[in-house]
Amino acid sequence: MNQGVEQPNATQQSLAHDLSQLGLRSGDVVFLHSSLKSLGWVDGGADAVIDAFLAVIGPEGLLIVPALTWTFARGGAAQHAFDPKETPSRVGKITDTLWRRPNAFRSAHPTHSIAAIGRRAEELVADHDTTSTFGKDGPYRRYVDWRAKILFLGVSLRSNTTLHAIEDWLDLPYLQVEKAVVKRPDGKPRIVEVTGSPSGHRDFYKDNSKVERLLRASGIIRRGKVGAADTLWMPSQEMVEVVVKGIHQEPTLLLCDRDDCEFCSKYRRPTIDHVRKNRPHI
Ligand SMILES: CC(C)(COP(=O)(O)OP(=O)(O)OC[C@H]1O[C@@H](n2cnc3c(N)ncnc32)[C@H](O)[C@@H]1OP(=O)(O)O)[C@@H](O)C(=O)NCCC(=O)NCCS
Ligand SMILES: [Zn+2]
Repeated sequence: MNQGVEQPNATQQSLAHDLSQLGLRSGDVVFLHSSLKSLGWVDGGADAVIDAFLAVIGPEGLLIVPALTWTFARGGAAQHAFDPKETPSRVGKITDTLWRRPNAFRSAHPTHSIAAIGRRAEELVADHDTTSTFGKDGPYRRYVDWRAKILFLGVSLRSNTTLHAIEDWLDLPYLQVEKAVVKRPDGKPRIVEVTGSPSGHRDFYKDNSKVERLLRASGIIRRGKVGAADTLWMPSQEMVEVVVKGIHQEPTLLLCDRDDCEFCSKYRRPTIDHVRKNRPHI
């Protein structure tokens, strides 16, 4: 702080109060998407935000963040090979601060790692090393099975990574095989294949998407303010149920409807055929 000239808008205590008001409770499992800036000035920065969550959910709770790195091998895009002990998270300061804490566990997936602190954190991130990004036996399924609350702190539903997991569990035909770069034990880069990678376009990468309207209409979204941030959360299992039902009714729910979108146009027909024929379930 600036010698008392500039009052912080938020502190760990005020944020904890706001999170309780929003409906977070002791023992909760929370999957957090976030923007630090959206909170207004926070005394103590990202660490204070993390501590506020941990104070509310307590030692029985579990705080999870995406720690995505996008260390793909295409076109030299990878700045360096993925190493879970070194590579920064690209999805916000709060996420990048969380995985670096000594009591955090981070999964070893080359592009879509996640990190967590709390009860069962180590179990959550286990077995997420190479191949399947969102697979049913991996972390993205575990937190849904553990009834996580998916929380959007100052960010919109455009960041809703769990929707890609649903795409995987329903075996929708448009997840991709990608190449990623990981660091070998000897420090040299190694190219690995990643399956179930969410490349390509989606309708929900824009505001007021089809799935956002469906989720709003379903009544499962709770809203409030945390600091200055417009915040919302949904129970993950209810979200998955609403989205799966929505895909059964409209198989291309998560793809866009634009004719000039090469990716979505390519996969619309195969997606409709797959869903109508197989009625896939998670
Ligand atoms: C991209 C995104 C992370 C950007 O949000 P952001 O608030 O601008 O950035 P961060 O959360 O990294 O926080 C850093 C910012 O906090 C601000 N900041 C620093 N200290 C601060 C403090 N004590 N209090 C408040 N803000 C502070 C800084 O201005 C910094 O911005 P700068 O880099 O422009 O200086 C966010 O919009 C987003 O999309 N989050 C969700 C991502 C996600 O979960 N994606 C998953 C699927 S792709
Ligand atoms: Zn599209």
